[in-house]
Amino acid sequence: MIEYALEDLCAAGITDIGIVLGNKGRTAIQEHFGDGNDFGVDITYIVQGEPLGLAHAVGCTRDFVGDDPFVVYLGDDLMKEGITDLVSDFDPETHAAGIGLQEVDEPSRYGIVDVTDGEVVDLVEKPDDPPSSFALIGVYVFTPEIFPQIESLEQSWRGELEITDAIRGLIDDGHSVQSHVVHGWWKDAGKPEDILHANRLVLDDIDHDVRGNVTDEDSLAGRVVLGEGSVIEAGAVIRGPVSIGENTRIGGDAYVGPYTSIGDDSMIDNVHIEASVVIGENKITAERTIVDSLLGEQAMITTNDDRRPTGDRIVVGQNSTLEL
Ligand code: G1P
Repeated sequence: MIEYALEDLCAAGITDIGIVLGNKGRTAIQEHFGDGNDFGVDITYIVQGEPLGLAHAVGCTRDFVGDDPFVVYLGDDLMKEGITDLVSDFDPETHAAGIGLQEVDEPSRYGIVDVTDGEVVDLVEKPDDPPSSFALIGVYVFTPEIFPQIESLEQSWRGELEITDAIRGLIDDGHSVQSHVVHGWWKDAGKPEDILHANRLVLDDIDHDVRGNVTDEDSLAGRVVLGEGSVIEAGAVIRGPVSIGENTRIGGDAYVGPYTSIGDDSMIDNVHIEASVVIGENKITAERTIVDSLLGEQAMITTNDDRRPTGDRIVVGQNSTLEL
């Protein structure tokens, strides 16, 4: 997901990028992105540590951004049309901040904005009584005027320093805040079910691109992406849209159904799997049907063949949910 954010930033001409890191997963992110060279960007890592809120995260970037206007892109947001228009529309001469908006069905889940003639007049975080149905989409353009506002914030009802409150502070102090309605889908994929939905949205847009080895072309129907070094054995059934990464083997008894993404270095056989995300380095060989599921890195689902007593033997990591 962070790679999509980097692509959008790059496309908008922003290649000097600071990634704000919490304590969780910090090393994995740094190992993945390195100095950014492989992704066409220049990355500086900024350690936030404790997650005390979005405004706290933005506050941590003060030295990095210096006196320049800058873009904040929340790492768990995805959007179809990127941010190029939003960024090029922003005028730092006349506005202290710019925000991306989109109309939503459940305004109480988001930061909600009241806009008159394109100018933001009020913002409120996850309101019980929303002033409109336009949500902040998680992409913001700021001038350094935002930093004094962040410094004077107090914790919100959810115990966080809210960027929404900092932007309202700008308005209260007489600054103008620009709004830009983003078209094309946008997804805040912070929860597992949202990741599955985001996966469907992304797979709706893929083009057929087979680089790996397909033993029998009849295995494939619809749009399929198959990475280098991956193998689809004869007998497997793959119905797109499906994306399969690199060096993954799909065995002859597997069925991979629409809206499934499978990462690199995995082994899939026997299973029928559909509308799921399998992150990578996974082994799934149980004769089961798996739907609407999310498997983290190195998770395995195999068969308990000869063990006594028979039954489902499970080792489940933190924050997991099994619906059996
Ligand atoms: C955050 C912001 C919220 C915004 C949302 C967009 O919410 O606080 O204003 O609408 O991102 O993704 P959070 O993800 O912290 O619930």
